[in-house]
This record gives sequence, C-alpha cells and structure tokens, in this order.
Amino acid sequence: MTPHVVVIDDNADLTEDVRELFEDYGARVSVFASAEEAEPALRADPHDLALVDVRLPTRSGLALLPRLREASPDGEIIVMTGAATVHSAMEAVRHGVHAYLKKPFDPTDLLKLAERALSQVTLRRERTLLSRELARSEALYRAVIDTVESLIIGVDERHRIQLWNGRAASVTGWRAAEARGQNVCELLVDESARGRLHAMATRAHAGGEEEARVPIRTRAGAERIVSWHVRPLVPDAAGGPMVLLAGVDVTERIELEARAANAEAMAAMGRLTSALAHEIRNPLNAATLQLELLRRGARKAGDDALLRRAEIVTEEVRRLSSLLDDFLGLARPKHLAMDGVDVARIARQVHELHEPAARAAGLACELRVEGELPEVDADEARIKQAIVNLLVNAIEATRGHGREVRLELSAGDGRVSIAVIDDGPGLPHARVLEPFETTKEGGTGLGLPIVQRIAEVHRGTFSIGSRADGPGTRAEITLPARAAAQSVRDPS
Ligand SMILES: Nc1ncnc2c1ncn2[C@@H]1O[C@H](COP(=O)(O)OP(=O)(O)O)[C@@H](O)[C@H]1O
Ligand SMILES: [Mg+2]
Repeated sequence: MTPHVVVIDDNADLTEDVRELFEDYGARVSVFASAEEAEPALRADPHDLALVDVRLPTRSGLALLPRLREASPDGEIIVMTGAATVHSAMEAVRHGVHAYLKKPFDPTDLLKLAERALSQVTLRRERTLLSRELARSEALYRAVIDTVESLIIGVDERHRIQLWNGRAASVTGWRAAEARGQNVCELLVDESARGRLHAMATRAHAGGEEEARVPIRTRAGAERIVSWHVRPLVPDAAGGPMVLLAGVDVTERIELEARAANAEAMAAMGRLTSALAHEIRNPLNAATLQLELLRRGARKAGDDALLRRAEIVTEEVRRLSSLLDDFLGLARPKHLAMDGVDVARIARQVHELHEPAARAAGLACELRVEGELPEVDADEARIKQAIVNLLVNAIEATRGHGREVRLELSAGDGRVSIAVIDDGPGLPHARVLEPFETTKEGGTGLGLPIVQRIAEVHRGTFSIGSRADGPGTRAEITLPARAAAQSVRDPS
C-alpha cells in the first residue's frame, strides 16, 4: 500500500523539496502550511508518517502532536526544527515521536529515518490486524463451546481445569472462575469414582482416547450421570499439553429408560395379578356367605366366643375384599367407558355421600364450584372413584388434626381442575404415590396410585403436596375439557 506522508511546515521551499523526495520514494504526500489548515484534513485522511515543524505561524507544531496521535494511532511522527531547544526535544519525546530532526538536514538522513518509521507503522498495523483476528476467532470459538450441549472441560497434565464452558457451569453449578485451577476429579467426582476419571485423563495425556460413564456431584450435592469422552488436545504454542473432557449429561435419559422398562414390567405384572385378583374374588364371596351363616348360628346358640371369632374373620375378609377392589381399580382402567361428563354433578354426588362422615369426624366439608365448567371426556365411574379416594384420604388425615376439608372445582386454559384441600397434618413422606405406601392400620396404600392412574388414562394430571397458604394438603386432578369442536358452536 502506498504510504501517506503528511508535511506540516510554513517553509514552502522546504516542503516542495520534501514532497519531491517522498513522491520519488513512492509515497502520497500532503502538504500543509499551518496547524489550522492541517487539523481537519488529518482526521479525514490519516497519515502513516507526519513531518512536523516545531515553529508554525500561529501555533507550535508540538501542540499538534496529540491531534496527530488521535487521528492516526498507528502512524509515526518526525519533528523537524531549526531552533532545537531542550524543552521542545523533551516535549517531542513525551509524545512518543519517532525522531527529532535538526534543520538543515541531509535528505538521505530524512529518507533513512522515514523508511524506518514507515516499516514500524506497517508492522504495527499488521499486529493490530492479527490481534483483532485472534480476538475474533477466540470469541468465535468461545461462543461455539459455550453453546454446545456438552460439558467441555480442558485440563493440564496435573488435571487442573483450564477450560470450562457454559454447559459445564450450568450442569455442575460451578462458575468458570471458581472451577479454573481446581483438580477436575476432586471438584466433580466422589471419592469412590474419582480414580476412574483420573485414570482416563492420565491415559489421555499419554495419547489415549476413551469413553465411559462416570457420575459427578454438583455443587448443590446432586448426582448426575455423565457420559465422558476423554482425549488429548493438540497443545498450543504457549500452553502445555491439555486433555479435553467432553461430557454429556445422560441422567434424564437413563431415568427415562429405567422408567420405561419399569412401566413395561408393571403392565405385565398388572395383567397377571388382575387375573389372579378376579380368581380370588369368587372364593372370597363364598367365604363371606359362610361366615354370615356361622355368625347367625353362633348368635342363636349364644356362643359369644365363636361369634367374636367369626366377626374378626369377617372384618379381615372385608379388608381383603376392599384391597382387591382398590387393586383392580389400579389394574383395570384399560376399558374406559368414555362420555361427556359433568364433573360438578359427580362432585355433588360424592360430596353428598361423604359429607356426613366428615361431619361425624368433626370437620366442615364444603363443595365450591367456580363458574360454569365445561364437560370432560371421561369414564364417569373412574372420575368418581378418584374424587372419593381424595376426599376420604383428606377426611381420614384431618380427623382430630384440623377443621375442614374442601372440594373445589374450577376451569381455565381448556382444563377442568378438581382440588381436595384440607388443613390436616400434611403428607407423612414423599412416597405416597407409590403402591402399598400407607400409614393407616388397615390401609391399602393404593388410593393415590389409583387416582394417579385415572388422571393418566384421561390425559390429565395429578399432583399432591403441601398447601401454599397454610398447614395441610392440597391434591389436584386436572382434566382436559372436551375438544373445542364439540363445545364451541359454529357462529354462523
Ligand atoms: N390429605 C392427606 N393428608 C395427609 N396425608 C395423606 C393425605 N392423603 C394421603 N395421605 C397419606 O398418603 C398415604 C397413602 O394414601 P393412599 O394411597 O390413599 O392409601 P391409604 O389411604 O390406603 O393409606 C396415606 O396412608 C396417608 O399417610
Ligand atoms: Mg386412601
């Protein structure tokens, strides 16, 4: 590129000589006779090299130096003067000028100086360009490693973290600044599994490459299963050898797989056991009948001991029978009799049936229906069973603990919500949705799993937990409202 040389001097003879000299050299030359003339032009057309006279008509050339620097940060300046003073020389040095040249000067000296100055400008420009390129490609690579869905961790030969991407931070909870410099195995892996990741990283430093699942512990203490790919990283010129650990958090995937396998096993088991349950029901009926006869006989004979024994057995058989009912409810909802159902009507029936029991337990039992509810596509008997299970649970838990149980129905967002709220003692533990988890003498632990199952087969949701607004429990089923086409009339 043609260098741009600017000459600022009021001596016309000298400037013409200098112009000729530099044009011969192959430069583009601009000449100005005063600082005022030069200043606006400099900003529009920055110099590579400026030759500035100290003594200019109105202002000192030295005052122009900061402007020149501003206009062209990479440019060089040579100060020329006929009257060199220590002060002006020091000023020039302070402004970082390339040279301080005393007039008169030998043109070849000037050219030599100028050449050196210009080659420095070229070098500086290249460096600026290169470092801009470098910053750009570094930003680019950072953006890339931060957006990938893998944990990207680089470690040195002592397994200290040098590189830590956004995903690593979000999965582990450790920010890059906290992770950097720490031993990756100590930071992330429990002692029991630490040796495995350590061995993988060590082998990778020796050139090996391998994959394995090693669990990590997050900052919050949770375990995540991470599938690691560990391999050596080509070292850069400045840094030492690095090993790259690229990890994919597979915790959810493993859980899903396990759940799917579990669901399959459960379904198979369900089919088997429901057949068995049906088989048990017949002899159970016969036994109930025989027991009734036995009790009557005992009563007639006045045999109180026998009567009491018969009653105990009757009670046990009744319990077994209700266990069977619950159990079949869990296994059965395959054959659903779906129809448009008015949930409020069902809730009223359930309420009417169970309100006396609540009252007997010293509890207020209120039914609230907010506005008009859309119909839902449902098997009426199943929905009723779900509401009964929740209401009975609430009454049983709240008896002797709280004052009320409430059945609340509402609609919104295309769903109908059925909530049972009590001010009882709250849930005893988090496993209440698992089958056979019961805290009740004579409980089956199947009530809630059945509700969950019923919600599922109706494409609904079920949740149970502590109330947000006070002590007690809130259980809620939501069901999708009937398809819009069926409930919204055509306006035409
Ligand atoms: N509203 C509630 N408040 C407190 N605990 C409850 C409530 N509902 C259910 N539970 C707890 O959940 C357990 C499981 O309930 P469930 O599945 O219906 O089985 P069961 O009623 O036969 O025990 C109950 O034993 C009880 O400890
Ligand atoms: Mg129950």
